[in-house]
Amino acid sequence: MANNAFGIDLGTSNIKIYNRSDDTVFVEKNMIAIENKKNLFAYGDSAFEMYEKAPDNINISYPLSNGVIADIQNMELLVKYFLSDLMKNNLKPSDYYIAVPWDVTEVEKRAFKDLIKEANVKARRVMIVDKAVADGLGMGIDVKNSQGVLVVNVGFDTTEISILSLGGIVLSRLIKVGGRKFDDAIKAAVRREYSLIIGGKTAEVVKMSLLDLEEQRAGALVYGRDIVTGLPVEREIPTALVDECLVEHFNTIIDNIKVILERTPPELAADIYRHGIYLTGGASQVSRLALLMSKGTGLKVNVSENPVTSVALGLGKIINDDNYKSVAYAIEGMSK
Ligand SMILES: Nc1ncnc2c1ncn2[C@@H]1O[C@H](COP(=O)(O)OP(=O)(O)OP(=O)(O)O)[C@@H](O)[C@H]1O
Ligand SMILES: [Mg+2]
Repeated sequence: MANNAFGIDLGTSNIKIYNRSDDTVFVEKNMIAIENKKNLFAYGDSAFEMYEKAPDNINISYPLSNGVIADIQNMELLVKYFLSDLMKNNLKPSDYYIAVPWDVTEVEKRAFKDLIKEANVKARRVMIVDKAVADGLGMGIDVKNSQGVLVVNVGFDTTEISILSLGGIVLSRLIKVGGRKFDDAIKAAVRREYSLIIGGKTAEVVKMSLLDLEEQRAGALVYGRDIVTGLPVEREIPTALVDECLVEHFNTIIDNIKVILERTPPELAADIYRHGIYLTGGASQVSRLALLMSKGTGLKVNVSENPVTSVALGLGKIINDDNYKSVAYAIEGMSK
């Protein structure tokens, strides 16, 4: 029987784990709730459920920040709990493939590998895969034989813009823009224009329903607290206001794509022109982002069928297909 193997994409908002034994991707919020500074109270989706609603003695946080591990202890706990759940409380020796951003320090990269080792999950082998390479595979691109592939992953805290060629990274930039900034912009616009304070979850729902609302030509109904009266109220927010406040962040992403394109060797640029941009990541689904990206760069934009899970699906391909094993590396042999 094939070895147990897991492919992990540690996202700032969602952890995605490809599980070889049943060929599925598990997705949960990468969040932990600690009570009285020491007791585990909840984790994953149930911790998120309590977020912005819990009393002061329950601290709910994301152990990752800007794509890198900020709170090692809690991240280890979470990895251990999620994997125990996946293995039904019977941890078996397993191989781990972990996707890491390219544009971070060597110490930050190494922390991902150490995390799996230190989480005591009976890791037999821990291999590193560049996130963008896994992303490309997850979107069905034969990354080992393709030249000049531009992958843009818009996540929660970060957007990773990468040029791949022949199974490796030519250029990559990690910028601090993603779904969280989109939500914050919506919160700020609603506060400014309607004197209404809404929570992050409400802003996120507005962002995710934008496309449907635009199709129905309806505004977004939100509940929040009126700044003047202090009372809870309901308001209808026009989608135009939401579109308008997101444009600034979309432009930051588009400008950074242009900077990467300017630095791309001309032969690869020709290939990129032919293929277009491969766009993925949960927040890439926001209404009008793909359209504005295409307009701003003059390139075709291919949108991912599995924006949240593309990295994990790519790790699955590496785990199951020996042909792709060479894109994974042990940290000792790291070039950067
Ligand atoms: N249908 C949707 N429309 C718009 N945004 C969405 C949709 N579905 C999910 N999102 C957003 O996608 C983001 C999460 O995406 P993803 O799981 O790719 O991020 P992550 O991998 O956790 O973050 P990062 O890559 O920055 O570490 C959230 O901001 C969420 O609101
Ligand atoms: Mg991500």
